[in-house]
Amino acid sequence: MHYLFEKGQPHGKKLLLLHGTGGDETSMLEIARFLDEEATLLSFRGTVQEDGMNRFFKRNGLNQFDLVSLEEESDHLIQSIRSVSEDKGVSLDEWIFVGYSNGANIAAHMLLERELAVKNAILFHPMSLGVDTQKFSLSNKAFWLSVSENDPIVSKEASNQLIHQLQIREAKVTIAATHSGHQITMDEINQAKQWLSKH
Ligand code: MLT
Repeated sequence: MHYLFEKGQPHGKKLLLLHGTGGDETSMLEIARFLDEEATLLSFRGTVQEDGMNRFFKRNGLNQFDLVSLEEESDHLIQSIRSVSEDKGVSLDEWIFVGYSNGANIAAHMLLERELAVKNAILFHPMSLGVDTQKFSLSNKAFWLSVSENDPIVSKEASNQLIHQLQIREAKVTIAATHSGHQITMDEINQAKQWLSKH
């Protein structure tokens, strides 16, 4: 997969960035550098194309997810994460996912459905993809999520379902409520930064 790697300071966080639909490996850089200016960054470009827009898995219309593609692309992404991490000497449990929208959705899916060493995730405007086949505990993982009451893409049910899926598996979940639809606001980035400083 196409990716960008930027080595940070030894004590900086290790942030693994996953963009939203139509983004690329550069889309989350500014936010990530604001979250921790000393961070090491690894950012992937989704390999699925939808009308010229990059995504991490296929869909057949808004929120009509292609679950075969979701599983294949999750495996593909995990393979790439493992191989780059080994190459760059970063252990998997050091990474913190930072995903937005489609990128947040695949991050949550990987942590719910695969036993991954990655422990923490910052998810901007994620939703449940409706897949829930595993039972292993997430008690060693912490999630920060932003949820907007007037998000035109993520319904209250879909975000609540994800929160429920995480909490029932004993993950630590911090929720930031926002009011600006599906967009990432400065206020939520500041809240994420504060959370990150403790994780
Ligand atoms: C998805 O396709 O993962 C969600 O609808 C969010 C998005 O539009 O990227």
